[in-house]
Amino acid sequence: MNTQKLKEILEWYICAGVEETAGDEPFAQVLPTKSISPLPARETASQKTQSERPATTVLSQAVNDACQNARQQCQNINTLEELKKLVEGFDGCALKLTASNTVFGEGSPKARVIFIGEAPGADEDRMGRPFVGKSGQLLDKMMSAVGLNRENCYITNVLPWRPPGNRTPTDGEVAVCLPFLLRQIEIIKPDFLFLMGASAAGAVLNVQDSISRLRGHWLEYQGSDGCKIECLASFHPAYLLRNPAQKAKAWTDFLRLKQKLEEKS
Ligand code: URA
Repeated sequence: MNTQKLKEILEWYICAGVEETAGDEPFAQVLPTKSISPLPARETASQKTQSERPATTVLSQAVNDACQNARQQCQNINTLEELKKLVEGFDGCALKLTASNTVFGEGSPKARVIFIGEAPGADEDRMGRPFVGKSGQLLDKMMSAVGLNRENCYITNVLPWRPPGNRTPTDGEVAVCLPFLLRQIEIIKPDFLFLMGASAAGAVLNVQDSISRLRGHWLEYQGSDGCKIECLASFHPAYLLRNPAQKAKAWTDFLRLKQKLEEKS
């Protein structure tokens, strides 16, 4: 690792409130030992298969048709390359019309962790790659502080197209694009999902709750193929850039992930 990279990680530790080191390991607060906690006062994601989710908002017939179309097309897809081509050719989401590029997931097809964000921003839209702007730079630092990187993990978004002006995606846009995200998860079959921000957590876990309530608990995602994957929700890097005081909490989430990776290795 070069000096610049080490400096960036050190800066991240300091921002996250790490004040002491013990050997090579940054020393932070002790993590709770509980593995999977239920969602506070809400149903757990495992109670419903994500593909059978009842819509919490009424979606138009056109949106429902587009969702069904996306789901059906995904069924015949078995590799990330095929899925990328499918998404690039999909015309059921109007966001594609205003986006410059389709931003598909990137990283290892054998990743143990998938990091999931909301949607491409301006930089990602221009470059056609996920998390390459300021949020991505912070994500890189946080990952690298726990020994992860873009080569051994997979990074993707709920939406492959940038909403104009970075507005929050509508429920319909999320619903139409969700089958593509879920298929990426089914193909990779990671050990863990790291859900960054309320949009990612809400879409994958089928809950509507604030990220402050969702973050820091191990939850379970159950796919339509019956697979069960442990998920951790945390703050989105863009939120951390605007609210640096929350970096300490995000750091504990990364330590939780690191601990799980070690336990399950
Ligand atoms: N924010 C996201 O949610 N995803 C990106 O790819 C970039 C910024």
